[in-house]
Amino acid sequence: MFARLEREPPEPDWPAGVSIRTFRRDDDERAVYELQQETFSDQRDYVPDTFEDWLHWSLSDPFDPELWFLAEAEDELVGISLCRAEWSGDAELGWVSVLGVRRPWRRKGLGSALLLHSFRELRARGKKRVGLGVAADNPTGAARLYERVGMSVERRILWYEKAAA
Ligand SMILES: CC(C)(COP(=O)(O)OP(=O)(O)OC[C@H]1O[C@@H](n2cnc3c(N)ncnc32)[C@H](O)[C@@H]1OP(=O)(O)O)[C@@H](O)C(=O)NCCC(=O)NCCS
Repeated sequence: MFARLEREPPEPDWPAGVSIRTFRRDDDERAVYELQQETFSDQRDYVPDTFEDWLHWSLSDPFDPELWFLAEAEDELVGISLCRAEWSGDAELGWVSVLGVRRPWRRKGLGSALLLHSFRELRARGKKRVGLGVAADNPTGAARLYERVGMSVERRILWYEKAAA
């Protein structure tokens, strides 16, 4: 799904008690990894990564810690939006690679706020568009959330699988 960033997206409305900051490499790696595995395990057929694989893939170029947004409440990590400044060589396209909110913090507007914050930060870096990939049957309603913040479907990918005999 994609959204154009011609106009500044609205300011995020953070749930009470939540603060936002960017990623600090040595301090935050383990907590961000654990939150991603925990929240993504709600998706169908999610296969967990080992910490080492996650580090390798997540921190590979064009990794930019200033585009990894961490939402905290009472000193606990409660949500993440991990973005990239380009996608597939397109430097005008920002990308939201990971969006996750811990279960007790869901349905309070935190996912929407993290997205709007990410869009504004990407736009401030000159990005013209923002995109992400989502399974159409995401059981936590992610596709609805993306539409609500102004994204629309640009491409549908059909995924075929056959069990090995
Ligand atoms: C998808 C996800 C990030 C959404 O996070 P969230 O913080 O619950 O998102 P929001 O609160 O902004 O919106 C979720 C719902 O709560 C509703 N909501 C928002 N604020 C609310 C409030 N104050 N009171 C009641 N409901 C509220 C929204 O309208 C939305 O409703 P809908 O499901 O009927 O469309 C979260 O469910 C998640 O981590 N899922 C697992 C990981 C995942 O699949 N990530 C996306 C991969 S592409």
